[in-house]
Amino acid sequence: MSQVAFQLTIGDVQIPNPLVLASMAGLTNSSFAISRSVGLAILGGYNLDAPTIEAAKELVKKGRSEFAYDEPTPVIENELGIMNTINRKAGINARSTTLEPLIAIAELIHQKGAILELNAHCRQPEMEALGAGQCLTRDLNKLSEWIREIKQTDVPLSVKVRAGVVADIELAKVIDKAGADAIHVDTMDSGPALVKKIRDATALKIIANNSIVDYGSAHKMFSMGADYVSVARAAVADNTAVDEILTEVQSFQDAVGWYNAPKHICAGGDLRGLAYCCMPVKECPLRYVLKRAGISEEEYVQIKESFNNTKLGAGPGTCFGSMVWCCKITRPCPWRDSTLYDLGISDVEYMQLKKQLAERFLSCRDLD
Ligand SMILES: Cc1cc2nc3c(=O)[nH]c(=O)nc-3n(C[C@H](O)[C@H](O)[C@H](O)COP(=O)(O)O)c2cc1C
Repeated sequence: MSQVAFQLTIGDVQIPNPLVLASMAGLTNSSFAISRSVGLAILGGYNLDAPTIEAAKELVKKGRSEFAYDEPTPVIENELGIMNTINRKAGINARSTTLEPLIAIAELIHQKGAILELNAHCRQPEMEALGAGQCLTRDLNKLSEWIREIKQTDVPLSVKVRAGVVADIELAKVIDKAGADAIHVDTMDSGPALVKKIRDATALKIIANNSIVDYGSAHKMFSMGADYVSVARAAVADNTAVDEILTEVQSFQDAVGWYNAPKHICAGGDLRGLAYCCMPVKECPLRYVLKRAGISEEEYVQIKESFNNTKLGAGPGTCFGSMVWCCKITRPCPWRDSTLYDLGISDVEYMQLKKQLAERFLSCRDLD
């Protein structure tokens, strides 16, 4: 079976597969990343200004590993040079107490074709005392302003946050509105349910993190709307974990054409699942979900019917007369399957059309 490409981007950076290596201070550098077959390796976290560098040195004295360089810029430049030489996509996770060093490093990172990840995640008291790391999420005006200023450099920007520190959805919306490209969310105890809420409430690319150790845990995040999953500890404990997850994700992508296909709405899936819903003919979760998304039933039907001029328009023998109303390929249905068979439409082609339909729904929802 030939490989179906993932077609992933963050900003203008193309990423070959949806696995991400999450940063681990003092550990995740280019030589660690080389042997992990991730699409994107986030190196760091790096400390950019004197207060965070000094705090990192104090943490090292206490036995924590850190990248505590007096001159971080040449180190970062060299690391990105290595990653470019071996043709691997990189991000740089960075902490600072002020904006200026972030702007300077953003310019360098953009020149090198990489991604900047603003660290609003670290919770070491030494960093928090300086207002760096997750403290940033407690001042949404400042966070928003920093994102806007950093984006002036055009660097592709991810913001790393931890769930449960402040109101998660409000935080995600602020990050989205300020213009970041991606949210890298350590879901902590909230798991895939939080990913679904962020998917429905924002247009951000989502890198879902925490306790991804195998394909099962990755798939749960993907089917709730994660574009990427990231791995930290499992990549240390066992450097084959990433390879194994990637093999499974690729084979699902090859079989189905949509590696992060959502669950059905009636099974608790995110808004993309509207692509598989049927006509609004009975009391079911569809009605509630449409209301929540600010899409009227008429608009819903219109969007579905606009896909009748694609191959989904076939299938007079299906429940509602065309496959725009049909369900996910992994749910057995002899009427849909016989239509696909008769017309020579592959499962991948069917699901890729459903994916386009899902994208239409996302572009029509109310993002207040
Ligand atoms: C030793 C270690 C160092 C870490 N350093 C950073 C860091 O510098 N910046 C950051 O955003 N997250 C850091 N993290 C958090 C991880 O990126 C990740 O969010 C967390 O470990 C949960 O993911 P996991 O369950 O895959 O390990 C670190 C984690 C570990 C274990």
